[in-house]
Amino acid sequence: MDLNGHRIIVTGSARGMGAATLRAYVGAGARVVGMDLDKDGGEKVAEDARRAGPGSASFMVADISDPEDVTRAFDAAARTLGGLDVLAHPAAIQRPGDAATVTPADWDMMMAVNVRGTMLVNQAAHRLMAPNKRGSIINFGSVSGLRAEPVAPAYSASKGAVHSWTRTAAGAWGADGVRVNAILPAIATPMYQEARARMTEDQLTANYWQNEQSIALGQKYGDPDRDLGPVMVFLASDASRFITGQLIPVDGGQTSVR
Ligand SMILES: NC(=O)c1ccc[n+]([C@@H]2O[C@H](COP(=O)([O-])OP(=O)(O)OC[C@H]3O[C@@H](n4cnc5c(N)ncnc54)[C@H](O)[C@@H]3O)[C@@H](O)[C@H]2O)c1
Repeated sequence: MDLNGHRIIVTGSARGMGAATLRAYVGAGARVVGMDLDKDGGEKVAEDARRAGPGSASFMVADISDPEDVTRAFDAAARTLGGLDVLAHPAAIQRPGDAATVTPADWDMMMAVNVRGTMLVNQAAHRLMAPNKRGSIINFGSVSGLRAEPVAPAYSASKGAVHSWTRTAAGAWGADGVRVNAILPAIATPMYQEARARMTEDQLTANYWQNEQSIALGQKYGDPDRDLGPVMVFLASDASRFITGQLIPVDGGQTSVR
């Protein structure tokens, strides 16, 4: 599963799973362009990965919810890389709420970043991959898109939409040799820590029973580098060439045994 010569874009690369994915790809020999809104974090992650090698990494600021910015950034990255083989797309946002009071502003923000953003970066990647008749796109869904999510209704709806889109794009682009899958992670990252920090004691207890108790492998969220990175390398590589349209939990069993 080495990725020597692979040309890859990773969104949300400044922290969390995007940063771990970028490190895994550079470690497997790929040439990677990371994208994020966070310039300082993104440049630091790329620089550290570049130093560690053996692949290479650079960074661009890009807003994945903005159509013009996505076109500009993907065209610039493809010029830097000499084409595009893989898009890994963890960038997303999560805001709390409840079904009775979720505001149109919060709803629209999560749909713009999580749903429209996924459509935009997937289209931009497909446009660059289709002429070569090969490519792998890896989106990020969530168990929240499969079940009721009382504390995050707009986020949950947005991830359900990412699942449907992933299936549709996989069906539409298989003829072009472009695979589209989605990871459903349970991984300890800043997004997860921030969600926990907003919870009361009672909510933390409810969170344990809803989210952690069903993680069969240890009742706790996984590590981005050890538990997610190798799966991202597999899905980027030709070892997964016959896998498309799948929602793939990387969650210690959470989705399946709950
Ligand atoms: N952490 C979990 O256990 C978990 C569970 C289920 C799903 N997910 C999904 O996994 C993915 C990765 O999550 P994470 O925990 O690493 O998140 P994170 O919040 O730690 O990192 C997300 C990154 O995306 C960037 N970003 C946000 N909006 C952007 C925009 N408009 N343009 C460009 N970059 C933007 C942020 O700056 C940040 O660096 C997300 O899609 C998330 O919804 C995470």
